[in-house]
Formats: sequence, structure tokens, C-alpha cells
Amino acid sequence: MAFFAPDIGIDLGTSNTVVYVRGRGIVISEPTMVVVDSNNKRNVRAVGDEAKFLLGRTSDALTVVKPLKNGSISDFDMTEMLIRYFIRKAIGVSHVIKPKVVVSIPVGLPAVSRKAVSEAAEVAGAKTVFLVEKPFAAAIGSGLPVYEPVGSMVVDIGGGTTDVAVVSLGGLVVAQSIQVGGSKMDEAIINYIKREFNMLIGDRTAEDVKLDLAAAMPLSEGRHVRIRGRDLLSPQAMDIEFTSAQAHEAIKEPCRAILAAIKWVLERTPPELAADIMRSGVHLTGGGAQLFAMDQFIATELGIPVLIAKEPEDCTVMGLGYLVENMQLLQNLGKQGFNND
Ligand SMILES: Nc1ncnc2c1ncn2[C@@H]1O[C@H](COP(=O)(O)OP(=O)(O)OP(=O)(O)O)[C@@H](O)[C@H]1O
Ligand SMILES: [Mg+2]
Repeated sequence: MAFFAPDIGIDLGTSNTVVYVRGRGIVISEPTMVVVDSNNKRNVRAVGDEAKFLLGRTSDALTVVKPLKNGSISDFDMTEMLIRYFIRKAIGVSHVIKPKVVVSIPVGLPAVSRKAVSEAAEVAGAKTVFLVEKPFAAAIGSGLPVYEPVGSMVVDIGGGTTDVAVVSLGGLVVAQSIQVGGSKMDEAIINYIKREFNMLIGDRTAEDVKLDLAAAMPLSEGRHVRIRGRDLLSPQAMDIEFTSAQAHEAIKEPCRAILAAIKWVLERTPPELAADIMRSGVHLTGGGAQLFAMDQFIATELGIPVLIAKEPEDCTVMGLGYLVENMQLLQNLGKQGFNND
């Protein structure tokens, strides 16, 4: 039995949870999802990848729980269960000294929600919990010079939130989190199809349509897919032809909201740092950064270069991993780091 547990970084995302273990790197990347018995929530049937497989395929006897909404815990017990499951899967249980755990949170998360995250991680088996704001971790993970006296801008487009921040000298200078991300785009597609075609589609189909067809800017060559769903006017299944122009129309609003958040942060950025950003560009991270033409849309609207990070959905956890490997940096995090020692 190992005496000390290795320290861990957990990017607790609304869509995906990614776990980094000190000395080993990323060991887990699975959907933040649990399937339980409908009449007894304590009876967990599937977690992570297995739970996602069951999404849309469950009967009334089973319920799919997504315990995070917009980056915050909406179901405490399930979140704790999920963190416990991921810690065990990552490092096992046989350690005398429990691990230090670094967890990502959205910018500006209220104190009660911060407390809920650290309590969930503690109850799940952490010795000490450190909370790090997502765009700070994402900036480190995408290789930006966060500890230098230069301004860098990172936009982390996740499933539940988009976190925008200007980072300099090891801290956040200006930051904002909005509750708009990939899930809002999926919802927008569901609502559009309901409104225009009187057809109901599920979350999974909406996400597939987004990945296949949607773009932040109108595409020059149109494409289309056939989508199957439930007719809202009769008890039958139906299918429709859905075009890339319609997909763009559907997700326009969430894309505009992300752009507005970036503008809000830029307007409040001190001029010297803003000049650095004009030169080095806006760095996109998170799964939503891969939305077709998102980089082009922001670059065109703002007149600033926009770059998509490599492996954008892993940037946050890689940043947490860097902090886990260099724990002394966490002690210096000051305002945006929160240690409940
Ligand atoms: N190629 C793509 N095009 C558009 N969206 C994508 C693409 N790939 C992934 N996404 C979206 O990215 C989102 C997940 O991103 P990510 O894993 O960064 O979120 P998260 O960290 O779990 O959420 P959050 O940080 O908001 O809590 C999902 O909504 C997914 O549909
Ligand atoms: Mg995220």
C-alpha cells in the first residue's frame, strides 16, 4: 500500500470531467453524467462514458443526472459521488495520506457554490482542496506566459459556461463568466426545430447536428442533413431536412453572447495589456472553441487575431496539472486561488 496518494487536478466541467494525476498526466476524460434508479437515487447504474451511452436509451425506471448546471453544482450528492468515483478510478483507495486536489471553477462563482465544490471534493476523499478559476488554468494549459508582465486573453468555451479573462503576472486582471456554452447552442437548435418544424429532438441529436452542420458564420457552400424526431402535432415520428444556413441561424444568439462577453472584458482591460492582446491575439480553449468558424467570427468582429489552442478541451486540466506538479505556485495564487486548508 502506497503511503502518500499522488496529488490530482480535476477539471469538473458541465459536460466533461478530466482528471490529471501528478507524475502521470491525464488519466480520465469522461462525461459528467450519472445514471441512477428513478425510485432510488442512491442506486447508481452507470457513470461517465457508460452513462452517456445510455443517454436517450433509458426507460422510466432509470434517470440520467447531469449534476452540474452552468458550471455550478446543482446536485450535491451526485457531484460528490462522481468525484469519489473519479478519484478512485484515477488513483485507487489504498493510501494512508489522502491526495491534495485542485478543482476548476467558473470565474466569479459565489462563495456558497465555491464551498459546495470544495466540500464535495473533501467528502469524496481529498485532504486539501484548492479551487482555481477555469480561464487561469486554461491560460497555463494553452502555454500562455501567465507569469510574465504581459497581457494574454483566453476565452474558454465549455459546455455550460464561457469564461473570458485577461491574465498577467500570475493573476486574472479582468474576467467574466457567462452561462452560455455548447449546451445553450444545443438548446437553441432544439428550440429552432420546435418552432420552425413542430418537431421535437433530443439533446444527443441536437449536439450531433451542431457538430456536423453548425457554424458561427454563414458557410459559403450550403450543406444539409436529415434529422428524425417526434412530430408535435401527431403521435408519430417524422423527419426533416435541416440546412447549414438554418443551423447557423439557430446558434447565432449564443455566438453573439460570447462575442459580447469578450468585448466587455476588452473594454475594461488596461491599455498596455490591451496592446499586448492586439499583438498576441485571443486564445480560444474548451470544446466549444472547435465550433466551425468560431475563430473567424471573433476575428472578423473584433479585428484581432484569434487562435485555437491545441487540444482545446484539455487546456484547463493541463493547467491544473501544471499547478499540481508545481504545488508552490498554488500557495501564491492569492485572490483567484481558494484554499480551504
Ligand atoms: N467540434 C465541435 N464543434 C462545436 N462544439 C463542440 C465541438 N466539440 C465539442 N464541442 C462542444 O464543447 C462542449 C464541451 O466542451 P468542454 O469539454 O470544454 O466543456 P466542459 O469543460 O465540460 O464545460 P464547462 O467548462 O462549461 O463546465 C460541448 O457542448 C460540446 O458539444
Ligand atoms: Mg471546462
